[in-house]
Amino acid sequence: MKTQKTDVLVIGSGLAGIMTAELLSAHKNVIIFTKNRLEESNSYLAQGGIAAVTQSDDSWYDHFLDTLQAGCYHNEPEATQQLVEGGPDAIHRLVELGVRFDRNEDGSYQYGQEGAHNRARILHICGDATGKHLIDTVKRRVQSHDLVQEGQTVVRLMMRSGRCVGAWSIDPNGEWTATYASTVILATGGMSGLYPFNSNAATITGDGLALAYEAGAELSDLEFIQFHPTLLVSEGKTSGLVTEAVRGQGAKLVDQDGRSLMEGEHPLEDLAPRDVVSRVLYRARQSGRKSFLDIRGITDFEKKFPTVTKLCSKGYIDLREGFIPVAPGAHFTMGGIEVDRHGATTVPNLYAVGEVANTGVHGANRLASNSLLEGGVFAYEVAQSILSNLHSVQMEGIDLWSSVPVLSHSLDFRSIQTIFNDHIGIERNRIGLERAVQWFEGYLTNTVYKAFPSLEDIQTYQHVQVGALVARSALERTESRGSHYRTDHPLEKEYWRQKRIKRRKRSYEPVESTARP
Ligand code: SIN
Repeated sequence: MKTQKTDVLVIGSGLAGIMTAELLSAHKNVIIFTKNRLEESNSYLAQGGIAAVTQSDDSWYDHFLDTLQAGCYHNEPEATQQLVEGGPDAIHRLVELGVRFDRNEDGSYQYGQEGAHNRARILHICGDATGKHLIDTVKRRVQSHDLVQEGQTVVRLMMRSGRCVGAWSIDPNGEWTATYASTVILATGGMSGLYPFNSNAATITGDGLALAYEAGAELSDLEFIQFHPTLLVSEGKTSGLVTEAVRGQGAKLVDQDGRSLMEGEHPLEDLAPRDVVSRVLYRARQSGRKSFLDIRGITDFEKKFPTVTKLCSKGYIDLREGFIPVAPGAHFTMGGIEVDRHGATTVPNLYAVGEVANTGVHGANRLASNSLLEGGVFAYEVAQSILSNLHSVQMEGIDLWSSVPVLSHSLDFRSIQTIFNDHIGIERNRIGLERAVQWFEGYLTNTVYKAFPSLEDIQTYQHVQVGALVARSALERTESRGSHYRTDHPLEKEYWRQKRIKRRKRSYEPVESTARP
């Protein structure tokens, strides 16, 4: 096994991870691990942009209210204020790094509009290629400092007396590495890749949640998974996203007969919050109606949306006809590793930032284009906190590598995705959720410990672990709120208002029906 030592180990390479690394690198030795290549992240795929208050007639309070309303008031108010108030500085830091947001001829910013925002306040780059250009810019900085190690999948966090002191990882050749670090930052993204229809990079499968859980960290709000209404459909499959900014420019959701799908469903119609639009499209599909974005009213579509145009051309969709076939799919994980206002988890020396963290800012349903914002704002908070607390790592007494649990039965990825899709999807109910809990926990009660298992075996165990945690949380929340919709409990309940379902490792009990109001 190879060994190395650093001040800070960042696991994950989306905007939150590499921005935190960049902010720390002037002062500390930093290593960034990425499972695949640096470009393989949800941030890289982000189309819409970054929501922030940068106009004199906009206010942090308006952005705050939009965020709370979209989040169905499950948001943590102080963290949400911190998010929206931190927006202008986060934009300024990105501009200082060389990011060039789209501007009008007079030099003012161009603003996009997306669902549930009361006004256009979303900054973008090259139309809908925001994530690509953001990451390319920050990437050049971290690469020039030689921080990145590609192809490293972390399989376990190293612990010493309850503190996190590094991580064990494995590369595609099966070589293992032990990395000792004074501070470890999880920035691995969410878990939407565990759904068969999703908008995420293929690597986004909940690893960070499983690693943190195994290390004893607290997780929360895992039942809140956002489904984006408009994933592109081609040849019967979803293949990428059609940004909500397309509806912001006036596109309408219609069925195969051209009838509006959103009329009468919500006062904001096509720009209603994502959970509302996704459910309408899901039900339309259940009743045999197909969904399309009617883009005939948008001029210069190709120029405004080059990424969507490229995706459509790959999927043999002729934009001249003016209709793009769409369907909802898993997009964003609102819950995650419970963190404080500086990104610290409940495990000493372990931080989490970006989608893997639950800062509480997204509530039960994230407001459009608030995720890159979260990455930018909390990267700074995490970096500041680490710089004021850093201590040196002591290698003595660290748990020696022994073994990790894997399932005793083999299981393919598709069957895991099927359970997520069928039982923990856009609409849920007690019977389906109990089935999912029993299925996942059944596998977890049949595990064996292996010294050097294959990467695939380790990941399968992690996916099942995440499945059990999400299913159990969704079963416990006997109400509907935001993205968590229960057909057997279709209304929000006062009892559940601002209540968080938390998970921390203990032995598994078999599921029984939960008696809750
Ligand atoms: C989109 O462009 O529709 C997605 C952006 C986001 O998820 O905030």
